[in-house]
Formats: sequence, structure tokens, C-alpha cells
Amino acid sequence: PVPVILDCDPGHDDAFNILLAAANPAIELLAITTVAGNQTLEKTTLNARRVCSVAGIRGVPIAAGRDRPLHGPRRIAEDIHGASGLDGPGFAAGEPDVPLDPRDALTLVRDTLLAHPAPVTLVPTGPLTNIAVLLLAHPELAGRIERIVMMGGSTERGNTTPAAEFNILCDPEAADIVLRSGLPVTMFGLNATHQAQATPEVVARIAALGTPLSGLCVDLLTYFASTYREVFGFDAPPLHDPLTVAHLIDPTLVGLARAAVAVELTGTHTRGATVVDLHGVTGRPADVEVAMDVDADGFWDLIVDAVRVLGEG
Ligand code: BDR
Ligand code: CA
Repeated sequence: PVPVILDCDPGHDDAFNILLAAANPAIELLAITTVAGNQTLEKTTLNARRVCSVAGIRGVPIAAGRDRPLHGPRRIAEDIHGASGLDGPGFAAGEPDVPLDPRDALTLVRDTLLAHPAPVTLVPTGPLTNIAVLLLAHPELAGRIERIVMMGGSTERGNTTPAAEFNILCDPEAADIVLRSGLPVTMFGLNATHQAQATPEVVARIAALGTPLSGLCVDLLTYFASTYREVFGFDAPPLHDPLTVAHLIDPTLVGLARAAVAVELTGTHTRGATVVDLHGVTGRPADVEVAMDVDADGFWDLIVDAVRVLGEG
């Protein structure tokens, strides 16, 4: 299996990425770290522990990372993910019974990278603050990182400003550090993730599993659908983050292009935009793998199966 550390801000779609990584035998989930993003660090950390508690995911250490970006204002996505960061009609998970690791995220990731015999894949699905801090604080660990498979950016337009996607806009300097790190990066932007929509048919498949966990998942997707309808007018919400782990499980699900990717740091109206040179016009090295075409049916088969496996305990 692929050894993985998830760095996340749950968040409805982050929550499903945790389920997928924990359930699928092609992934060895070594650790979960949290970052401020969809909600405050306190809330995203509580949510990671809640998701693991309700899904019976035990023995995976969870540690809290950075509570603010390297530069600029803190921002959250309460309009999309609610006051808790993981709102849902029936999802009031209460106190988690999965503990918080006493180490901070930076220490947990360092210890995990040093302890694992093979290089580890980092999967950030929130603002890239924790990963940037890791690369700055521990350049000597670069050889322990197999690759970075991230959700963020777009080849097209944004979802938080006209130009910028949420994860990148939250911490553009961190994203810039990660994309210029020289490590192999695969980017799942909105152009790809908007192809993975949780349609009523998908929700019905999850409901039909008939377990307490599947009921919670339906509640989360129902809430997520309602905010995506209100804010963006979408018929069905895109479940962005789990495309990262789905790609690691089955590399045939998503077609990739290679391109130079720059993060706009100074634009008057475009700070946080990812400038993706798909046609090679800049002459910069095409050193980032960019997700393009998604097999949505294959993706949802993996998600439904993960909810089934964990729901059966
Ligand atoms: C990204 O922003 C967050 O709201 C989601 O969890 C996802 O990681 C989509 O722009
Ligand atoms: Ca996220």
C-alpha cells in the first residue's frame, strides 16, 4: 500500500477523504494533521477526531498544525461548511473518543517520515501552511517525501474570488513554497474536482448501505448540497478532496497533464490564483502534474465502497 499522511481541514469533502484513506487497502494511513481552513484550527481538529470516532478509525495519530496562514488574514468557509465546519442535519457527533496526539503537526510529520522505512506521500487538502512550514523547517526531510498530492487551485477560475480557489487563497505564500519546492507535486484543482459531483443517485447509493455511518454520510452530503446550491447554484456539490486519495488508489481514474504552475502573490484582483501554463507558452519547466479528466463513476465506486467497509466495522 501507498504510505500516506493526510493534512486536512475537515470540512465535508476532507471528511470523505479520511474515510477513503482509512478504508481502502491500497492506502496505509500513517497520520492525520489538521490546519485552519474551512473552520478554525480548533474546529477542524475536533472534526478530524469526530470523523475517526464515528467511523471506527483508531490507531491513526491526529495532530493539530497551524492556526493561521504564513501571511495575510485568516479566512474560513462557514458559508459552505457551516458553523462547526462539518454541519449536517443529523450530524451532531458529540465528544470524540479518538484522542489528540500530544505532538504538534510538524513534530508528528517529522517523526512519521523518519520512522517509515520508505518515502511517504503527503496529501494536503486544506491551505498549504503546514506543508510549507515542514519544508522550511526540515529541508533535510525532502528525501523522505515521495510526492505531494494536493487539492487546490484550478486551470480555470476560482471559487472564493473570481480568480482564486479557497485553499490557495487562504495561504498563497505557502502554496508558492510547495509548488516551487522541487518535490513532485500533483495538483487537483477545481477544473478536475467539479467533475466529481455528489448527485442524488450517488447519495441514494450511500443511503442504501443502511448503516449508521452511511446515514451520517448522507447527512453531510445533504448539507453540503444545500450550501453549494445556495452559494454557487450547483445542482450537486463537488466532493473535491477525495480525488487525491482516489488517484493514489487507482491512477487510471484521473488523466494528468504536465504544466508549469505559478501562484499569483501580488495581483490586485488575482492574489491566490494558480496560473497553469497548459500550452507551454512561458518556457518554464512543466514540472507539476495537473489533474484534468475524471472518471466520476469509478471515483464514486471507491467512495461508496469505503463507506460500506467502515460501516460494517
Ligand atoms: C477546497 O476548499 C474547501 O472548502 C474544501 O474542503 C476543498 O479542500 C475547495 O475549494
Ligand atoms: Ca479541504
